[in-house]
Amino acid sequence: MADYDVLVVGAGLAGMRAALAAQERGAKVAVLSKVHPVRSHSNAAQGGINAALTDRGDDWQDHGYETVKGSDYLGDQDAIEVLAQEAGREIIALEHMGVIFSRGEDGRLGTRRFGGQQRARTFFVSDFTGQAMLHVMFEQVLRAGVEVLDEWFVTSLVVEEGRCAGVVAIELRTGKLHLLRAKAVIIATGGLGRVFEPSTNGLICTGDGMSLAYRAGVPLMDMEMVQYHPTTLKGNGLLMTEAARGEGAYLLNSKGERFMERYAPTMKELASRDVVSRAEQTEINEGRGVDGCVFLDCRHLGKKFILERLHQVYEEGKAFANVDITEQPIPIRPGMHYQMGGIKTDVDGRCWDMKKRWRGVPGLFAAGEAACVSLHGGNRLGANSLLDTVVFGRRAGHCAAEYASQEPLKTVSQARLAHEEERIHALLSRNSSGDSVAKIRLEMGQSMNEHLAVFRNQEGMETALRKVRELRQRYDRVGVRDRGRIFNMGLVFALELGAMLDCAEAITVGALERKESRGAHFRTDMPERDDEHWLKHVLVYHTLEGPPRIDTLPVTITRWQPQKRVY
Ligand code: FUM
Repeated sequence: MADYDVLVVGAGLAGMRAALAAQERGAKVAVLSKVHPVRSHSNAAQGGINAALTDRGDDWQDHGYETVKGSDYLGDQDAIEVLAQEAGREIIALEHMGVIFSRGEDGRLGTRRFGGQQRARTFFVSDFTGQAMLHVMFEQVLRAGVEVLDEWFVTSLVVEEGRCAGVVAIELRTGKLHLLRAKAVIIATGGLGRVFEPSTNGLICTGDGMSLAYRAGVPLMDMEMVQYHPTTLKGNGLLMTEAARGEGAYLLNSKGERFMERYAPTMKELASRDVVSRAEQTEINEGRGVDGCVFLDCRHLGKKFILERLHQVYEEGKAFANVDITEQPIPIRPGMHYQMGGIKTDVDGRCWDMKKRWRGVPGLFAAGEAACVSLHGGNRLGANSLLDTVVFGRRAGHCAAEYASQEPLKTVSQARLAHEEERIHALLSRNSSGDSVAKIRLEMGQSMNEHLAVFRNQEGMETALRKVRELRQRYDRVGVRDRGRIFNMGLVFALELGAMLDCAEAITVGALERKESRGAHFRTDMPERDDEHWLKHVLVYHTLEGPPRIDTLPVTITRWQPQKRVY
């Protein structure tokens, strides 16, 4: 048994930023991850990170307002104010840590424009910003001597007397289960993209942390808000960064028209993502697409510029679509990219409410895409997610360290470990002649992508919910062929699937609950936003006895009253 003050689960940007912050405050910290830290999905973030720097004539309030408008007024404005106000210092801190941001002609840090924003306030490293940040953050973790448990998988959270007291985790190298006690646990396990097929997300994005918190008693909030990114590659759904449009690329339909002029006359291709994705899908549905796609045209940017600023997109086009984007438009379509909802937290990452308006678990914290602070509401602005990871990762780390400094380690019975051991043993001992994990996972992903995508309606969402519940029953009989314990990835995939089904159900019941259209949740049967009844968050609680329990929470409005949203 190992003991920590703060145990961080997940070693992407949010997790490592949280670990550094907690260690800086004197806590004994470990960061645990199912993959090596530099294989985390933060790697995949391409286009950049937003910040309004005053020395550029920018203003945090403009960034805040555009984030609120982008969220379709569902984001909590107290949290958005924190995000926008603390962004600048985080960019400077990253630069000082060693992130080599791309620079402009004047030698200063360069910026590009991203969607839903009037100003160029997105700092970037070519089109691999997340990767550059992740490697630097890992260097900092090594430098600080934070203990890293890589290739460990958490099977459950330990809650004693209503408080989080640690985790049970498998060390994948040996297959041995361990009880890790901690005064505070921070979940930073990223998103759930692979609940949908296809997705821009890595195969590791399976909602594990959301499910852990949910099953421990913390509500998942705004789960119905699933972002479809406007430019994902035909076929495999790879991300073609919004930076391409930020740098001036166009969207074209089969007639060669820049159709965004009709949907968002001012911002065109740089309207917010939900607006652009709906426009593309409308073009496709009305017969102005080609083979389920429209086109991203980068040709006029020039080869030199493309190779310097959009190199990854250039390589992806060649390798996966046989298209040279310097010479041809590339077929793209909206694809699942990001979960705006997640584990309900406050602005310091706490998964419990000091004012007791919602129920949670003291001692548990969350940050990054796994969490719902709520910054992104109904629709996240591009380049606000990297910012979310570092601002709220740091805040969660600081708060968890402070919490841990006032809490004793709790006594945890070894029976916890024995109980988990029995569960794993039962899974490994099951007859494996039934459905495979892969089959259930694919059926779930395809159903979610069919019924909970850019356009939704009651009938489709009910179909998806029935499907998820049928798959849950089939999952209870699923077997694992490899009965060994060393690096048993079949076992990990089976456990991941359980988490994904929890998330799929939470998304679907949340979506059925919201009787309006807002942000990414667009119902063709209820196409209007309804502030009178639905300017509120949807909370989904796990229950032991049956279907999830739903509750709602008012949106926090500080300075920006809801308005009609036009771009
Ligand atoms: O398009 C992109 O580069 C994605 C960025 C983001 O989701 O923030």
